[in-house]
Amino acid sequence: MIIGVPKEIKNNESRVALTPAGVAELTRNGHTVYVQATAGEGSGFADAEYIEAGAKTLTTGKEVYAIAEMIMKVKEPITQEYELIGEGQLLFTYFHFASSEELTHAMIARKAVCLAYETVEKADRSLPLLIPMSEVAGRMSIQEGAKYLEKPQKGRGILLGGVPGVRPAEVLIIGGGIVGTQAAKMAAGMGAHVTILDVSLPRLRYLADIMPANVTTEVSNSYNIRDHVKKADLIIGAVLIPGAKAPNLVTREMLKTLRPGTVMVDVAVDQGGCFETTRPTTHEDPVYVIDDVVHYSVANMPGAVPYTSTVALTNATLPYAIQLANEGWQKACKRNAELRLGLNVVLGHICYEAVGTAWGLPTVPVADVLEGALV
Ligand SMILES: NC(=O)c1ccc[n+]([C@@H]2O[C@H](COP(=O)([O-])OP(=O)(O)OC[C@H]3O[C@@H](n4cnc5c(N)ncnc54)[C@H](O)[C@@H]3O)[C@@H](O)[C@H]2O)c1
Repeated sequence: MIIGVPKEIKNNESRVALTPAGVAELTRNGHTVYVQATAGEGSGFADAEYIEAGAKTLTTGKEVYAIAEMIMKVKEPITQEYELIGEGQLLFTYFHFASSEELTHAMIARKAVCLAYETVEKADRSLPLLIPMSEVAGRMSIQEGAKYLEKPQKGRGILLGGVPGVRPAEVLIIGGGIVGTQAAKMAAGMGAHVTILDVSLPRLRYLADIMPANVTTEVSNSYNIRDHVKKADLIIGAVLIPGAKAPNLVTREMLKTLRPGTVMVDVAVDQGGCFETTRPTTHEDPVYVIDDVVHYSVANMPGAVPYTSTVALTNATLPYAIQLANEGWQKACKRNAELRLGLNVVLGHICYEAVGTAWGLPTVPVADVLEGALV
């Protein structure tokens, strides 16, 4: 198969969909990979590394789209990319169709085959192509939190791990899923005292088993949250209720009980945030202060560490990309239920229920597009 990797042109996006290692694997499987010149630059990969791994480079995105049967990307196509997409062309990338009606209509009109990273799903309901970004954001939340706790950054002026004779910081993590677990590991490793709150007892049992002694677990309820936020130096918001807006667990009124200079990092900002005072921020201007509490709520945290994010993402996408390239999308999706769930908009038809529901549009059974009944 001919695979194309265009350079990401969305504002502030430095990731790329394939590393040179990924190119080497695909070419080893007999495929041809075209990478747009400088596509990997933002993540630290030079064109020469791609060429050495077996890729051919093309100057423009237009040329990449024109030649490739499968386009691998990171972000959803933006307006100027729509016209480059060909009928029947396979696009393997994040789409988040339920948050863009324009994109949904555009992909229906282009009659592309849109396989969305975010809905590829394993039998245990985990989302293997979202997990790497949660891992990055979870670890990064502590790095950012530690930085904003410094006095010149308006924080309390406390070192996360303390020093001998001085207490370490109190880190409160609300939500003990992927983000919360990675945050807890980082904070505990730096010597902080960590409390994880979650509503799931099985999850708390698991965390209590695997975490070091400076991590304690408690059930998440408004009484415990109210009690813990008063004592915390750094609070991480990491809850997720699938398919719903995050609940406001730290209210505006609770904010007054926090100590001045407390830092709150709301990783769940992309689902509306789990602090009432959260509003999305950017890497250019990541924090704001309300009631002497520093709020950090960048919606695309992994964007700040493109090397790590690119490698983490491509580690997860590559096995699927190889299967798609080896077998073609129809056969691969018939054989692999995880990939099949990634089919969102195919040849002009929506085949993912949540996308149709979001925009009041009809949905066709995925089996029909796979059997070619609608092709
Ligand atoms: N800002 C970013 O750049 C960025 C990057 C990656 C992920 N995220 C977001 O981070 C959030 C967490 O993602 P994840 O992968 O860890 O999800 P996850 O499903 O692995 O974990 C969510 C956890 O929240 C718990 N939970 C639900 N309701 C709760 C409550 N009331 N109190 C305490 N815990 C509760 C669940 O039991 C679960 O353990 C999501 O909103 C995700 O979209 C943001």
